[in-house]
Amino acid sequence: MKIVIVIPTYNEADNIGRLVDILQQEFLKRPGHDFHTLVVEGNSPDGTANVVRDKMKTHENVHLLMEKEKAGLGAAYVYGFKEAMYEMKADVIVEMDADFQHDPKDVVRLVDEIDKGYDYVIGSRFAKGGSIPEEWAFKRKFFSVGGNIFSKIVLGIFNVNDFTSGFKASRVKGFVDRLPLDTILSRGFAYKIDLLFKMHRLGAKIKEVPIKFGLRDRGNSKMENNNMTDSLRVVVTLRYNENKNFVKFLAVGGIGFIVDAGLFNILRIGTLSSRNSALASGFTAMMVTFILNNYWSFGERKIDGTKKKVVGFIVYIIFSSIPIAVRSRLVGFSVSMFGDTALVSNTAFLIGIILGLIWNFTVYSKIIWKGKK
Ligand code: GDD
Ligand code: MN
Repeated sequence: MKIVIVIPTYNEADNIGRLVDILQQEFLKRPGHDFHTLVVEGNSPDGTANVVRDKMKTHENVHLLMEKEKAGLGAAYVYGFKEAMYEMKADVIVEMDADFQHDPKDVVRLVDEIDKGYDYVIGSRFAKGGSIPEEWAFKRKFFSVGGNIFSKIVLGIFNVNDFTSGFKASRVKGFVDRLPLDTILSRGFAYKIDLLFKMHRLGAKIKEVPIKFGLRDRGNSKMENNNMTDSLRVVVTLRYNENKNFVKFLAVGGIGFIVDAGLFNILRIGTLSSRNSALASGFTAMMVTFILNNYWSFGERKIDGTKKKVVGFIVYIIFSSIPIAVRSRLVGFSVSMFGDTALVSNTAFLIGIILGLIWNFTVYSKIIWKGKK
């Protein structure tokens, strides 16, 4: 397999030469693979590029990609990934830092897991046996651990403990080549969460390998100050994007309720009897919610054609009536069992609404507006 180690650098002249040399030694341990090192240089003023050019004279598997300017870690990786994938035809891409916080001796450990059939191997600081530096201030440790727990819960990915690790190996075919690299959610460090989430949703077999995250050998960290809020934004955006339909569906339900209650009272005070008002307002509200769901909540799967719309609307009414009927039975049953008090009837009514929401959303997204695959 062709394996390309992508290393972004900014002012790493003191580190990159030694790292390249050690990696060359490590590559010899797995002679079955064709290893290459690709440095993505953010146009550092300290001469990092020249150190790499010097190494290229003696090692033909060392490559240099020059950025016009420092454009953030996410941007550097996207540039490096594309080069590795399309120009160098890599089968596996390894990402790692230049400052020895990632132990070059761990590269073969990651690659071994790819050989075993995993698609996405994460060098994890928070897996059993991994660690972060003792010397880190409490605040940094706290945000690092807390951020990972938050990401885990919000994204619903429970087999990963380190969402922002910068040390990992990814299979290209079927995975990196299917990532939407041109629309990453962050050009900074938080892009890692974005890509991890998408890898997971692509069905990658994920493996965490514990690593000891060292202290930076020389030079300074380039971590942006807005790193925390940026990561938070990425996590929430990923979740929202996936549940956009549901959030919109809830909004449409709210609008439906306002139309229903408003029209009911207008008609009742005006001309119609209460019974007919309830019927007319209920039907109008259903029509309104159907149209809003069709053009907005499920807009990307909307029903076209008059005949199909009429059929769709009838099916919509039938399915939407079911939870209403169930709810009224539930309320009736509850008050007969526990007494007709405000608490009992309202609790039953609320449970009915929640069941109805789940029912309607499932039916709408799976039957009425089922996406074309
Ligand atoms: N080309 C380029 N452009 N390289 C960059 C840039 C940039 O804008 N910013 C940073 N780098 C390079 C650095 O030279 C280094 O090799 C690597 O990217 C990581 O940068 P550091 O500044 O050392 O990052 P860190 O140690 O604070 O963060 C590391 O740990 C984080 C988790 O705590 C990284 O591995 C992050 O990816 C990780 O999320
Ligand atoms: Mn670092």
